[in-house]
Amino acid sequence: MKAWQVIEHGEPKKVMELGEKAVPEPGPGEVRILVKAAALALPDVFMCRGTYAFNPGIPFTPGQEVVGIVNATGAGVDLAVGSRVIATTSFIQGNGGFAEQALAPISATYPIPDGMPDEDAAAFLIPFQTAYIALARRGQLLRGETLLVHGGAGGVGSAAIQVGRALGAKVIATATGPERVKACLDLGASLAIDIGGEDFAEIVNKATEGRGANVIFDPVGGDVFIRSFKCIANEGRLLAIGYSSGSWKNAATGAVVFKNCSVVGVLAALYDKEFLDRTHEELLKLYAEGKIRPRKQEISFDDIPDALTDLVDRKVIGRVVAVL
Ligand SMILES: NC(=O)c1ccc[n+]([C@@H]2O[C@H](COP(=O)([O-])OP(=O)(O)OC[C@H]3O[C@@H](n4cnc5c(N)ncnc54)[C@H](OP(=O)(O)O)[C@@H]3O)[C@@H](O)[C@H]2O)c1
Repeated sequence: MKAWQVIEHGEPKKVMELGEKAVPEPGPGEVRILVKAAALALPDVFMCRGTYAFNPGIPFTPGQEVVGIVNATGAGVDLAVGSRVIATTSFIQGNGGFAEQALAPISATYPIPDGMPDEDAAAFLIPFQTAYIALARRGQLLRGETLLVHGGAGGVGSAAIQVGRALGAKVIATATGPERVKACLDLGASLAIDIGGEDFAEIVNKATEGRGANVIFDPVGGDVFIRSFKCIANEGRLLAIGYSSGSWKNAATGAVVFKNCSVVGVLAALYDKEFLDRTHEELLKLYAEGKIRPRKQEISFDDIPDALTDLVDRKVIGRVVAVL
C-alpha cells in the first residue's frame, strides 16, 4: 500500500517519504481502516521532529485521526467489516493515518452518523473532544461566563470557540492577522484580538469591565500562557492544552495565589472509554443541532508534508484534511 513514512527526525518536508509499505495486520482490540480522509495537526510535526510525548521507532507513519471503512478486525473486536468509522489511529505504534490503510484501537473507533460527510468527520474527533473535555469537565465553564480562547483560528481553538458558545459562554478569541481574526468572529467569538499587534490582556480586561476571563483555553503556551494571568478573573481557570508556540512555561505560584485562580491541565486521551463515549454522544448532538461544525481545508494525500509546513508557518485556518 502507499504510505508516508518518517525516515529520520527533522522537518516534515525533509524527512517524510512517500513509498510502498506492507499492509499492517490488526492486533487484538484493533481494526484496520481503508482510509478515505486523514486530519493533519501540529503533533504530527512534533512527531517528525522527535519532540512529541510519544515517539515510535523510525521509520513510522504519522497521522492521528482518520475516516474510512473497516476492512479487517483483530481478536475481540465486535464491529462489522464494512463499517464507516472515525478513529484516533494507532500512531504511537507507527501505524498512523497518512497511508492507504491504518490501524486503530476499537476503543477510539466510532461509527459515523449518516449526514456527516467524511471531511467533517476527519476534523471532528480530536479537536472537539479536547475542547469539550477542557471546557465542560476541566474548566467547569458556566453559562454566562467569559471564555478566552487562544489560537482561535487553529484546530483545537476553532473547536473551543464553538463549544464555548454552545455551552452558553461569551467568547473572546485571539489570533494573528486580520484573516485569522475574522475566522474567529465567523466561528462565533463576540470579540477577536489580533495578538500580532494588540495586547490581549488589556483588551480582555477592558471588555469585561476589569473582571477578566473566567476560563482561558490555551493551546499556545509560552508567553501567551504567562500573559494570561494578567486577564484572568477571580476564581478563573487557566486551561493548559498545548504548546503550539514551541514551549511550555511554568506558572508562578504567586500569580496563582494573588489572582485566586487555578491552572488546570487537560489531556483528553487519559479518560476511559465510557467517559469518551458519553462526550462523543454530546458532541454528535451539538453537531446534529448545527451548533458545531469543523472548520477545515482540504488537500490531496500527496501534499501532506507541504501542508504540515503550512501549519508550522501558521498559514492554516482550522483543521487540514487530506482526502484520499
Ligand atoms: N491536551 C490535549 O488533550 C490536546 C489535544 C489536541 C491538541 N493538543 C495540543 O494543542 C496544540 C495546538 O494544536 P492544534 O492542532 O490546534 O494546532 P494548530 O491548528 O496549528 O493551531 C495552533 C494555533 O496556535 C497559534 N500559534 C501561536 N504560536 C504559534 C507558533 N509558533 N507556531 C504555530 N502556531 C502558533 C496559531 O494561531 P495564530 O497564528 O493565529 O496566532 C495556531 O492557530 C498542540 O500543542 C497540540 O499538541 C492538546
